[in-house]
Amino acid sequence: MQPATAPNVRPLPADLVAGYRRDGFCVVRGLLSADACAEYRAECLRLCEENDLLRNQPGSKYRAALIQRVNVWRDSPVIARLTLHRQLCAWATALAGEPLRLWHDHILAKAPRNGAPTEFHQDQPYWPHRDSAQPISAWIALQDVPVERGCMSFIPGSQRLTGLGSTDLTDAGGLFALRPELAMEPRVTIPLRAGDVTFHHGRTAHRANANDTDEYRVAHTVIYMPRTTTYSGTGHCITDGQNFATGQVLSGELFPEI
Ligand code: SIN
Ligand code: NI
Repeated sequence: MQPATAPNVRPLPADLVAGYRRDGFCVVRGLLSADACAEYRAECLRLCEENDLLRNQPGSKYRAALIQRVNVWRDSPVIARLTLHRQLCAWATALAGEPLRLWHDHILAKAPRNGAPTEFHQDQPYWPHRDSAQPISAWIALQDVPVERGCMSFIPGSQRLTGLGSTDLTDAGGLFALRPELAMEPRVTIPLRAGDVTFHHGRTAHRANANDTDEYRVAHTVIYMPRTTTYSGTGHCITDGQNFATGQVLSGELFPEI
């Protein structure tokens, strides 16, 4: 499938790409207009109202931190336009430096005054992937997201740490129990305006503050993987039941090339 939107593609400055390769994250301002953000945010809230991952576990610690709905581009033509946005896909490819395909997207919302940060973690250990050196996620702010509403923080260079297990993203000490030295590393916090994007490598340690405001915080996240990524055989909601063999390339209509 081709990306659905075709704006003029704005190339990224070389120093921004170099910064991403060094630090494992970067910010790009102004992907979306205010009107586009309002449309996508309303659609995300409608979709989360309809259903979300842990809808039947209202007391869950995870759901208190994040209301999540996965693979929404399959359910909503409006969100498919955003997930497959040509400019977003072009930036992700330029940053990763190799051809990519979609892994999945998800809406990540925090309820008003949810009192629960998303604690430091790497993303890649959650995924059933092998041969995936340059996974990259785009986190798109659909409204202004200052620190108080739960913007993202990153630990520069942490994408070079391989082989860590997955950690509980409601446990502030989880990642640091695996690598205590990370607790002393500088952190970079990036407030975003509506329509801005942060990109991070799948192994860059990141967190988001709790939402201390009276509005839902709504972000849309799109995750891309190298086209050579193969299935590790471990369980994941996107691949469970899809009959991939261990070692098989993750390809097909669920994982369009971008
Ligand atoms: C969040 O949006 O709160 C966390 C995002 C992430 O873990 O990628
Ligand atoms: Ni994450």
